[in-house]
Amino acid sequence: MQSLETESELAIKKDQKYLWHNITPYSETNPPMIATSASGSWVTDIHGNKYLDGMSGLWCVNVGYGRKELAEAAYNQLLSLPYFPLTQSHLPAIALAEKLNEWLGDDYVIFFSNSGSEANEAAFKMARQYQQQIGQHYRHKFIARYRGYHGNSMGALAATGQAQRKYKYEPLGGGFLHVAPPDSYRRPAGQTVEEFNLQCAQAIEDTIVWEGVETVAAVIMEPVITGGGVIVPHQVYMDRVQEICRKHGVLLIIDEVICGFGRSGRKFGHHNFNIKPDIVTMAKGLTSAYLPLSATAVRKDIYEVFKDNSDDYGYFRHVNTFGGNPAACALALRNLEILEQEDLIERADILGARLNREFSELLDHKLVGDIRSFGLVTGIELVEDKVTKKPVHLDTVKGIIAKCKAKGLIIGKNGDTVAGFNNVLTFAPPLSSTDEDIQFIVDTFKSVMSES
Ligand SMILES: Cc1ncc(COP(=O)(O)O)c(C=O)c1O
Repeated sequence: MQSLETESELAIKKDQKYLWHNITPYSETNPPMIATSASGSWVTDIHGNKYLDGMSGLWCVNVGYGRKELAEAAYNQLLSLPYFPLTQSHLPAIALAEKLNEWLGDDYVIFFSNSGSEANEAAFKMARQYQQQIGQHYRHKFIARYRGYHGNSMGALAATGQAQRKYKYEPLGGGFLHVAPPDSYRRPAGQTVEEFNLQCAQAIEDTIVWEGVETVAAVIMEPVITGGGVIVPHQVYMDRVQEICRKHGVLLIIDEVICGFGRSGRKFGHHNFNIKPDIVTMAKGLTSAYLPLSATAVRKDIYEVFKDNSDDYGYFRHVNTFGGNPAACALALRNLEILEQEDLIERADILGARLNREFSELLDHKLVGDIRSFGLVTGIELVEDKVTKKPVHLDTVKGIIAKCKAKGLIIGKNGDTVAGFNNVLTFAPPLSSTDEDIQFIVDTFKSVMSES
């Protein structure tokens, strides 16, 4: 039998030989963490070290790790019906679509895919086709925000406003335009947060008008820009964006891939702003990432336009082999039940407020320029100089993350987004985190900052 040490060395060697990692440069000397098991908010690596996952993986393990009931939901479904395409139907997809509709609090029809990127791609195609079919033949453009991320595929990456993710992959899908996000921390001196937010919303209307109202199909945005640096809009911004979209016949697509499923302290992030999107895209927390599944929810009156059988091309000609897999749907339903039964949505708000309270004393730290939060998402923007707000060098950000890891805490950052602005540390632990888990995050992070 091989010793544990030999086993881990072998795994690292094979990893370096066979596995190509997501958005991570190759390193001979700094191998990736190889996880072997996890429970609650804690992950164990191949050496037996335990880490608190302060990022829920990639902002997605909302109900925490090790949920036997989710494994059972998938297992039972795999035994009875492992697959059937959604060109036809199956009961788990029907039940989940009904449940999502209930959660959205409105009248939506659900299209399933596997990932956030695919959910957004479906949304773009639906928006363009819808506009065509109501006679708006030139409406093909989309407006998104700089710093926002919407996925890795050629359309979703085109919607993304992060230049560093696009280098060497362009040209991407056409017709995507960007405006500045409401980054209130960096607003011009003398402007109130409200004035600045209204000005940022106005940039959307100006773009619509300058491009030609009759050419714009939709606006896409997250309720709060998460991975791009935790940029939280003021209520006036969201109100105004909705008003502008309605005024100009432009659809409003809200990307809930991270903000959804309790992360924001409400079922969906946009519920915090009391707006009604035309299309809502979701993934990650839908299954707490136990299995791949995503959804594009479309307002029913938009869906109605696709029912016109007098046009051979009037229906949505989009197929996704794995989208809405029965086991993934059954698991997602159970996941939503857990979020409800354990009051995890409310808990996200409580834990987020606690993190905020504890972190607020760090505002005196020389590197901390701003602390922003939304439910159980916190972003800490690090600057070299609090007056000029010059972002710290990436090495400082990486150093803090490495020190946290050495003390058993995984935190994140906005990585490879906009050159020079990858200076926001991020926290998004599971909504099921215990009080002790949160205390561990606070104590560990404060101790690292006291040395930084
Ligand atoms: C806001 C947002 N939209 C879309 C995506 C794309 O999701 P996926 O990686 O599942 O394709 C992500 C992924 O991080 C995201 O954060």
